[in-house]
Parts: sequence; C-alpha cells; structure tokens
Amino acid sequence: MSEGTSAHIIVLGNEKGGSGKSTTAMHLIVRLLRDGRSVGSIDVDAHQGTLTRYIRNREAYCEKMKLALRLPEHRIIGPTSHDSARVAEADERARFEAALADLAAGRDYVVIDTPGGASFLNRLAHSHAHTLITPLNDSFVDLDMLARVDPDSLAIEGPSRYAEMVWEQKKARAMRDRGSIDWIVMRNRLGNLESHNKKAMEQVLHALARRIGFRQAPGISERVVFRELFLSGLTLLDLREPGAGVKLNMSHVAGRQEIRMLVDAIDLPSGQVEAGRATG
Ligand SMILES: Nc1ncnc2c1ncn2[C@@H]1O[C@H](COP(=O)(O)OP(=O)(O)OP(=O)(O)O)[C@@H](O)[C@H]1O
Ligand SMILES: [Mg+2]
Repeated sequence: MSEGTSAHIIVLGNEKGGSGKSTTAMHLIVRLLRDGRSVGSIDVDAHQGTLTRYIRNREAYCEKMKLALRLPEHRIIGPTSHDSARVAEADERARFEAALADLAAGRDYVVIDTPGGASFLNRLAHSHAHTLITPLNDSFVDLDMLARVDPDSLAIEGPSRYAEMVWEQKKARAMRDRGSIDWIVMRNRLGNLESHNKKAMEQVLHALARRIGFRQAPGISERVVFRELFLSGLTLLDLREPGAGVKLNMSHVAGRQEIRMLVDAIDLPSGQVEAGRATG
C-alpha cells in the first residue's frame, strides 16, 4: 500500500480504451530506468496484458541481441475466480495491495497500467495514485469520458463518468491516508497541423482543468515510432543504445524530446529525474 513506503506511485488511467495508457506507461518506465531509478510495474489489465507483453518482448529482445537494457520488476494482477462480488473484491484487493506493498518497498517508483472500462480493480488502483496520468486522444469522442460539452458554445455542462470516478478515488485516497492525487491529463496522438478540432480541444481542456481539478502536461504527437517498436520491447529512449539495431531519424529525436518534456511536466518528487539525464 502507499502508506509507509518510499515509492512514488504513478497510475496510467482512462476508462476510454485505446488512449495510449500502455504506450505511455512503457515510455515512462524506460525513462525512469534510464535515469537510474528503480522501478516496479503492475499490469492491472491482465486481460489484454499489453504492458506485460511489452516487457516480455524487451526481455526476449535483450537476450537475442545480447543487450543489457534495464527492466522493471513486474507483476500482473489477474481477475478473480470468485463469484460472490464481496469475496471477489476482497480477493482482488488483497492481491493488488500485496503486490504494491512488495514493489513499493525500497523502490523509487511503481508504475501501474490500468484497463479501459470501469471495474473494482481499476478503481482501487486509481485510489493508490500519487500521480494519475490520463492520456487523451485529441478527439471530442474521447473527451466525452471527462465532460459533457455543449456542441455550439463548447461550454462545459458537467463532468462525465471517468471524471466522477477520479473524484471518488481522490476521496478514497484522502480517507485512507489523507493523501492527494496529482491528476495530469496529456493529449495523445496530436496532429502536426493546426486544425479547428485541435484548437477547440485546447479551449475546452483549459476550462475543464480548473473545473474538475487536473493539470495539463505537454502532449505526444501521432508517430509511427510509438507503435513500431512494441515487438522488440524497445522505446524511443533506447535507440541510442549500441546494438539496439534501429537507426535514429528526425522523428525519433522529436519524439524523444516530447517524452522528456512530458516527464519534466509530471514533476516527480524532488530531483528524482535529474540524475543520468544524458543517458536517454
Ligand atoms: N502517440 C502515438 N502515435 C502513434 N500510435 C500510438 C500513439 N499512442 C498510442 N498509439 C497506438 O494506439 C493504440 C492504443 O495505444 P495503447 O494500447 O497504448 O492504449 P491503451 O489506452 O493502453 O488501450 P487499452 O484501453 O485498450 O488498454 C496502439 O496501437 C498504440 O500503438
Ligand atoms: Mg492498455
């Protein structure tokens, strides 16, 4: 559990599927590892297991290419086998909190990837966040999970499901250990061209940030490189590694800068990402 441990707990969450949670989780983990930090990771999305697969691919690629890339200590929380809701929740809570306590002890960070959709385990993971990062595709379809927006005036009519869920988990966190959750929304798959949609999203998110209590971090562009490295388990941040076998191009350099700006904006506890800056 979060209390009494040193690790800073970072949860990637958004009930909307396909927003970039697992991709961002992997890049964040590798950024922190390359900065010399110790990192644990938990995949709460055992059904898809994208983060788990990414990490396993990295292990296999390192072995094949004789690379010595760092890996997180990883755990998977599978779904419960109990039918009764009460027993199932107690079982999931016990397994999640045991894994978290084990990983948090003596580590700098624990990064938790969560599934799309709402579930007990998903809510529980959110309630343990020190930092919650919500990647958001640059689309009003995806924004609809955060707030209802008037189509003509773009005025915010009220929070939607996911924003309400985060609010509930902020309360759960405060009741458990009086802690707070630093909620960060980052736009993902941004296009390079200025469009009406991009400007309108900017306007609504700016107003929404104050209204429902998040801050914004710089976004990430739509780049093939964010998906093409999955099978090797590499990220953009590994490409300068001798023997990585991928040639660095301009898009890679720009993408690395985006990840760096994102991590800077997340503003993790004092000076933790300063060391080893030259490594990635
Ligand atoms: N910035 C990006 N540029 C290009 N492709 C991206 C980018 N971010 C994510 N993707 C791709 O979008 C898809 C969804 O990403 P990802 O699996 O990380 O989302 P998710 O939120 O974890 O999804 P789920 O809710 O299903 O777990 C993947 O195919 C991924 O490779
Ligand atoms: Mg995912």
